[in-house]
Amino acid sequence: MTFNTSWWQHGIFYQIYPRSFKDSNGDGIGDLRGIISQLAYLNWLGVEAVWISPFYPSPMVDFGYDVSNYIGVDSIFGDMTTFEELIQKAHWHGIKVIIDFVINHTSDQHPWFLESRSSRNASRRHWYIWADPKQSGSPPNNWISLFGGSAWEWDAATGQYYLHSFDKRQPDLNWRHPEVQAAMFDVLRFWLEHSVDGFRIDAAHMIMKDPHLRDNPPNLTGARVMHKPMGDYDSQLHLYDKEYPDLHGIYRALRRLLDSYGVEQPRVAIGELHILDWKVWASYYGANLDEMHMPFNFGLVSAAWNAQAIRQSVDTIEAILGPGAWPNYVLGNHDEPRIVSRVGPAQARLAMMALLTLRGTPTLYYGDELGMYDGDIPAQRVQDPFEKNVPGRGLGRDPERTPMQWDGSPNAGFCPPNVESWLPIPADYQQINVIVEREDPHSMLTLTRALLEIRRTTPALSGGSYRPVENVPEDCFVYLRQFGDQRRFIALNFSSREQTVKLAELGAGQFILSTYLDREEPINLTSLCLRSDEGCIIALADSTE
Ligand code: NOJ
Repeated sequence: MTFNTSWWQHGIFYQIYPRSFKDSNGDGIGDLRGIISQLAYLNWLGVEAVWISPFYPSPMVDFGYDVSNYIGVDSIFGDMTTFEELIQKAHWHGIKVIIDFVINHTSDQHPWFLESRSSRNASRRHWYIWADPKQSGSPPNNWISLFGGSAWEWDAATGQYYLHSFDKRQPDLNWRHPEVQAAMFDVLRFWLEHSVDGFRIDAAHMIMKDPHLRDNPPNLTGARVMHKPMGDYDSQLHLYDKEYPDLHGIYRALRRLLDSYGVEQPRVAIGELHILDWKVWASYYGANLDEMHMPFNFGLVSAAWNAQAIRQSVDTIEAILGPGAWPNYVLGNHDEPRIVSRVGPAQARLAMMALLTLRGTPTLYYGDELGMYDGDIPAQRVQDPFEKNVPGRGLGRDPERTPMQWDGSPNAGFCPPNVESWLPIPADYQQINVIVEREDPHSMLTLTRALLEIRRTTPALSGGSYRPVENVPEDCFVYLRQFGDQRRFIALNFSSREQTVKLAELGAGQFILSTYLDREEPINLTSLCLRSDEGCIIALADSTE
């Protein structure tokens, strides 16, 4: 059996939010040396790649998504030498390293912006998007920031507004300026020369806006504009403030740059795209698969959590992707409520099984392998600028960013006991942590690690085809994965009631894994009884292996 997927296709990715992973120097904030100290854990868990959210110098208004120097390391996180050591040690463990490329905006403290705002004649004035006020003095158009309020900020010194799609301290770059393109591609080269294995491109669909800066129309139907409620941002249809078609030229050029570093062990581009129209979303792979390797697919995050909706989400992706376009799935990230908090602990086990048995690259969010919940954040400890801009509406992202729960000691082993961690440690850390769960044969960690190992060692799961199975109870999502003669059958019960799946035509099989972690016996598929919330992987007995 030949198996010819590339590392980013059969590999399992793991997202690290560096502030929250492991603090090595006792300041209550995670850092690069903390990550280095846990590479052995990641290796034990079985991941093949990590994506590390921003660690660049930053005023930390948006915790690193406001970059003031693209080619450095913030002293909170370490320094370049530590980064080099991280890359070298990660590679030694067989772990690839993806870093964030914050493409749409810089910090307002970036020297480029300081120069841009210094005068209308500044040489870098047009590196950002400046516009005159309307006659009334009001902003140039009605665009709204994703973090609430107008997307335009008045600059009294030069008498113009600048655009910020996020916080006002995150001015948008003008990607139509050739010097911006050149400077940002130099940033990519810098990190490629430092042996990074790819980039997660932040807010990738935002970089090109309507050149005429037309007003967005109102969202009269109230239909969703993103995959989750976004406050004021939902009041408009965002036709003009993002996704202008010339952005595809940028992504083709970016891909050429990555490919110039070799296609045997490709450096990859993974885009963060919040696009609800899947056809448009898929266009970011490029008409000739010459743009992103993968645009992140938030289907499992946005779909209602039931068998029909999840199946539909998967089938939509399968149908829309052209030949060679590789799917991917996530259950959460640093912007989304955690999976356990969304669907409960029993269904989170099922979700993990789905993530790790569907066709396409899975990305796990740190802590989800433990079943970490969203934390409770008292008002006085709120950190997220989104929450600060629009308090009390549940839009903030601090809850999903609480420190990793390593053990049962005070501060969960994240930072020393006498230090206050940057976000509070959830109260359940004595039960939900790596040390406790490693020893528990039925824990979420044990399940996740088993799933990772099965996926890694089963070509049908890591690279095989996908086919949904029909005529199953409506609360079940059942599918077949196949590579050559190897067939695996996955049955997921999304309900809290027992369900019976009758598939006599599939003959006999063998349980490989149940989300209950208690059965590995032969099974006759004439009648497969799934317990409440149970998911199973079954090897079909007629495989000729
Ligand atoms: C998307 C990132 O995931 C989010 O955390 C950040 O606030 C915005 N982009 C702005 O960079």
